[in-house]
Amino acid sequence: TAVVEEQVDPFSLVAAELSLVTNRLRSMVVAKVPKLASAAEYFFKMGVEGKRFRPTILLLMATALNVPIPRSAPCPGICVASLLHDDVLDDADTRRGIGSLNFVMGNKIAVLTGDFLLSRACVALASLKNTEVVSLMATAVKHLVSGETMQITTSSDERCSMEHYMQKTYYKTGSLLSNSCKTIALLAGHTAEVSILAFDYGKNLGLAFQLIDDVLDFTGTSATLGKGSLSDIRHALDYLGKSRGMQRTCKKAC
Ligand code: FPP
Ligand code: MG
Ligand code: MG
Repeated sequence: TAVVEEQVDPFSLVAAELSLVTNRLRSMVVAKVPKLASAAEYFFKMGVEGKRFRPTILLLMATALNVPIPRSAPCPGICVASLLHDDVLDDADTRRGIGSLNFVMGNKIAVLTGDFLLSRACVALASLKNTEVVSLMATAVKHLVSGETMQITTSSDERCSMEHYMQKTYYKTGSLLSNSCKTIALLAGHTAEVSILAFDYGKNLGLAFQLIDDVLDFTGTSATLGKGSLSDIRHALDYLGKSRGMQRTCKKAC
């Protein structure tokens, strides 16, 4: 007899939990200084939450491992902070289909708002009262910074190295997801074996996500992506100091 596999939409499986986390994040990013308040809530407003790939994966992991939902809030906070800084580094003008924060409010406010969100994520992290989890998240932040630095300082030899590319990709995208998945296993009190499995799952999914994101940088359009395309190659050219003509051709293509 044929087994008919039902197609399950992973996003709808945790839709209710996702809106709980979104509301918790909104309440966490309130600031007293008016400019900071409007900048911090910018990407938490209705309709600009993005694909929500990372929080969905973490919520699926939390559901599978039986972790109370509000405990997984620090990870998405770190993620949004890193994207605000990333858009400054990439000179991006759009994200999630609207103007990026650096484009709308300038680089200085975008950097400060990223720092503010990171500090709010640290407070959420502290409230978990688990020093191993704090250490895992601090490692992930170290890796984010390392990956971004590797990306903007790649030599032409390293550019042709798959090993360099995969290491950079792990730092940039794999680490936050792998360490967050491991965190969820630890918070649920699972064995070291389960926490390693959770870590590997997050790592491989994170790597796959970034590989596709990098291909879309070439094959996608700004309209389908909700953010500029060809940004990495434009910055590679800037860094290598290639001819102005080539840079113009690339910018035109965007
Ligand atoms: C997106 O890459 C960016 C990242 C995955 C990480 C960015 C990390 C930093 C800027 C380090 C600072 C970190 C913190 C926590 C403040 P991309 O530019 O390839 O993807 P995109 O197309 O979404 O812009
Ligand atoms: Mg970017
Ligand atoms: Mg980038």
